[in-house]
Amino acid sequence: MDINRKLEILKTYQSPMYLYDAGVIQKQYTKLKSSLPEQFEIFYSMKANPLLVICQYMKSLGSRIEVASEGELHIALAAGFPVKDIIFTSPGKTYDELAYAIDKEIYSINVESFAELEIIQEIAQRKSVKVNVSIRINPDCDVSGAGMKMSGVPTQFGIDYKELMKNINILLQAPNVNFIGIHVYMGTQVLDANNIISSMSDVFRMALDIQAKAGTELKFIDLGGGFGVPYFKCDQELDLYALKSGVNKIWGEYRDKFRNARVAVESGRFLVAESGQFLTKVLYCKTSKDRSFVVCDGGSNFHANSAFLGRHVRNNFPMSILGKENEPVFETTIVGPLCTPTDVIGQRVMLPETEPGDYLVVEKSGAYGLTNSPVMFLSHPQPTEILVLDNTAHVLREHGKKEDFIEKQKGLN
Ligand SMILES: Cc1ncc(COP(=O)(O)O)c(C=O)c1O
Repeated sequence: MDINRKLEILKTYQSPMYLYDAGVIQKQYTKLKSSLPEQFEIFYSMKANPLLVICQYMKSLGSRIEVASEGELHIALAAGFPVKDIIFTSPGKTYDELAYAIDKEIYSINVESFAELEIIQEIAQRKSVKVNVSIRINPDCDVSGAGMKMSGVPTQFGIDYKELMKNINILLQAPNVNFIGIHVYMGTQVLDANNIISSMSDVFRMALDIQAKAGTELKFIDLGGGFGVPYFKCDQELDLYALKSGVNKIWGEYRDKFRNARVAVESGRFLVAESGQFLTKVLYCKTSKDRSFVVCDGGSNFHANSAFLGRHVRNNFPMSILGKENEPVFETTIVGPLCTPTDVIGQRVMLPETEPGDYLVVEKSGAYGLTNSPVMFLSHPQPTEILVLDNTAHVLREHGKKEDFIEKQKGLN
């Protein structure tokens, strides 16, 4: 989209703003799909960006969906996903959430502990139904190289592989539970294709052992994913050619054994990160003790990820000043409007001379942006969210839209 059109959108709908490009989502989906064997299904991990319209768009591309709460399940259903294409993973599912998922008859509840299994059994018995479950496994060791490891280490996620093998009869003997498969999610932001391939190979090997021990054919094998995107200069793009040939090779070894199974991967970041830009208006430019600061109308309250929250690597997201892409650059620090020194979204970053009224553009902001941010802090108006689809800007969230909690609290005094 050209700069004038972007400025027009900013003037009409106001900053701060998330601007998503549906064309990029489509490109990323197609890239991932064509890097995997035909039989593999992609489940969109909507935690990366839960906007209804983005979920609907994923569905139109052929994606299935992975939810992590009752709230996400509501959105997935509202987006029109058939229940056979919905799976539910979370280490902390409440009784009510499980009951709701059971009522909706989603394809698989991915169980993370034997205690959770017991609750599912109890609810299913009360409702006189049989519930499809898969077991989220925490493998014996980590082969992922993930930026944030979620398996192969001591963790709240899943059931340790050894524990599952020891107690598998509990699962098989639960009368209202239908054990359909396994799930492994090793961690996020994996950029080395070999690590993804090793992990997939590991999951297939475990699946075979579990089938043998359980004496039942698995119908669902969820390989996880963790497909990463390069955010920083030091990051190497995930090699999709290597991924494709490695996964095909492994699938060649296991295809016949799992001919009747649904094989899944999950992806959030890879599908949506590249599609989004965060745009925030420059309010003030100042100097403090010889260091230059640019103060913007949105910061870590709306894009915590760019302010290093929850990240080990403290690098800056790629960013620029709208319309000044080719101007000489200087070192500056970009901050938001919060009353905390941690509200920094660009630490000693090289950018052109800026002035109030300019717009900072933070790239690769489509995943874990607003959804992963402390938006209530300091009560700033919510940012606008816009999806550009076929050159038309669709407003998904209006600037400043307040929740009705102010109204609710008014009645208390
Ligand atoms: C179980 C599970 N699946 C999928 C994802 C999505 O990961 P990503 O956005 O890296 O694809 C996550 C992220 O934390 C997760 O916990």
